[in-house]
Amino acid sequence: MKLSTPEFRAMQSLPRRLGQRFFELPIFHQMGLDVRGKDILEIGCGSGYGAFLLNQLDPKSYVGLDVMEKQVELARRKYPQFEFLVQDATDLSQYESESKDVVIIFGVLHHIPDWRKAIDEIKRVLKPGGSLFLEEPRGVDIKVFDALFRWGHPDTDFGLKFLDAYLAECSLSIIYKQWTPLLTMYHIKKSD
Ligand SMILES: C[S@@+](CC[C@H](N)C(=O)[O-])C[C@H]1O[C@@H](n2cnc3c(N)ncnc32)[C@H](O)[C@@H]1O
Repeated sequence: MKLSTPEFRAMQSLPRRLGQRFFELPIFHQMGLDVRGKDILEIGCGSGYGAFLLNQLDPKSYVGLDVMEKQVELARRKYPQFEFLVQDATDLSQYESESKDVVIIFGVLHHIPDWRKAIDEIKRVLKPGGSLFLEEPRGVDIKVFDALFRWGHPDTDFGLKFLDAYLAECSLSIIYKQWTPLLTMYHIKKSD
């Protein structure tokens, strides 16, 4: 779902970029993120700062997708050298099954009412042994942000308990899970 204006503004802010660069990406590295020479897909790439960070790590290929045209336009304008698509994460049909080594998500599933379908699609496009690096807020944090900043998240049943249960149902293994005050970070693997 598209972002509200207050959340859209917050996502373009310096604190958001600093968080992604100096907090979230280092935790993903500690959890084993290694994209060198790999085919990677970023879901909900926003205005492209994740693309900038990830492409410094020498992937073989990078594609960033986001459902919001305004975000993708910004990303293309700032980083014309990288590939961005307007695309809903619940339909990745343009990608072959088992075509990506790594899928990475910086805070997106909680915006997708049918987030389970997005996980099904991620599982399908990941190669055997491929990794999903994921960060999401807890359900309660989303409500706090909406109350304080009127970010207006969609009404979904997303929450970490349901997420963990669905990952287990899909036979996706949680390799690492780290709670932090705002976000919970995951390294999830598809079996070989
Ligand atoms: C909280 S923002 C995070 C943006 C960026 N990853 C970051 O960390 O700054 C969530 C992003 O997910 C995108 N999004 C929401 N629903 C989506 C969907 N169904 N498919 C793809 N992207 C989606 C939004 O447009 C938005 O850019």
